[in-house]
Amino acid sequence: MMWYRDTPFVLGGAPQAHLKVQGLSAGYGAFLVLRDLSLEVRPGLTVVLGPNGAGKTTLLKALNGLIRRQGVVTLDGEDLPEKTDRIVKAGVALVPEGRQLFPQMTVLENLELGGWLVPKAERARRLEQAFAGFPKLRDRAQQLAGTMSGGEQQMVAVARAMMSAPRLLMLDEPSLGLAPRMVDELLGMARRIADAGTTVLMVEQNVKKALAVADRGYVLERGTLVASGPARLLARSSVVREAYLGADSAATPSTANTAVRRPAVA
Ligand SMILES: Nc1ncnc2c1ncn2[C@@H]1O[C@H](COP(=O)(O)OP(=O)(O)OP(=O)(O)O)[C@@H](O)[C@H]1O
Ligand SMILES: [Mg+2]
Repeated sequence: MMWYRDTPFVLGGAPQAHLKVQGLSAGYGAFLVLRDLSLEVRPGLTVVLGPNGAGKTTLLKALNGLIRRQGVVTLDGEDLPEKTDRIVKAGVALVPEGRQLFPQMTVLENLELGGWLVPKAERARRLEQAFAGFPKLRDRAQQLAGTMSGGEQQMVAVARAMMSAPRLLMLDEPSLGLAPRMVDELLGMARRIADAGTTVLMVEQNVKKALAVADRGYVLERGTLVASGPARLLARSSVVREAYLGADSAATPSTANTAVRRPAVA
């Protein structure tokens, strides 16, 4: 769809965003959730998997400036700013857990808010792109966001984030609570956004489907990374199969395990 093909961030051959995180720690007050995390989000689609409470949302919040962080975070070699508005200006957008649309506002108004940092004329242009890419939203422009279905709301949330023409799009469990067909649609949308040049970092609990669309993955447990690697290999690794896919360990293919990095001490 045009939305994914014609966005400003791919014009002019701009390099695709590359995020590097080294020694990241973050939490709430004295409660440290993430301890000394290092990971890389390369161009393409990277997924972070992990059980409830592992710290996935905390990671995205820390990267988006919603909570304080320690450690080194760079976007294309430049230090990522600390404050959210500056992070957005640097080209990072977050679709938060639970979408967080303004339910009493229309779809159009929600989308316009996503472009609050850009000049009016440019905002109008991006709105056109959003409607071209998400045709269903044009028909629903005047509908109150709160009256849409879960899947439709998620689509509005993604379209709203794309209004800032991000170089790095972060998605927090986009498929949460959606029917299987809608899950496929949302994950397919994430894939297309990555293919069109926006680097995508996605948190998911839908392990199998997320690994099927991702290029690379990380597994986060209790604030620490326990595995990482190419998505296809991660899906076949014992660490993911046993804990997340319910596979019997006897059927574990050997090549996948050697290609997936695990910490020296379990
Ligand atoms: N605002 C907060 N204040 C204090 N503790 C918090 C806060 N938000 C999250 N936590 C705690 O931080 C830990 C990690 O939570 P986080 O939301 O990052 O997990 P998650 O991996 O996103 O889980 P889920 O899959 O359920 O969304 C949990 O123990 C949680 O209780
Ligand atoms: Mg979460």
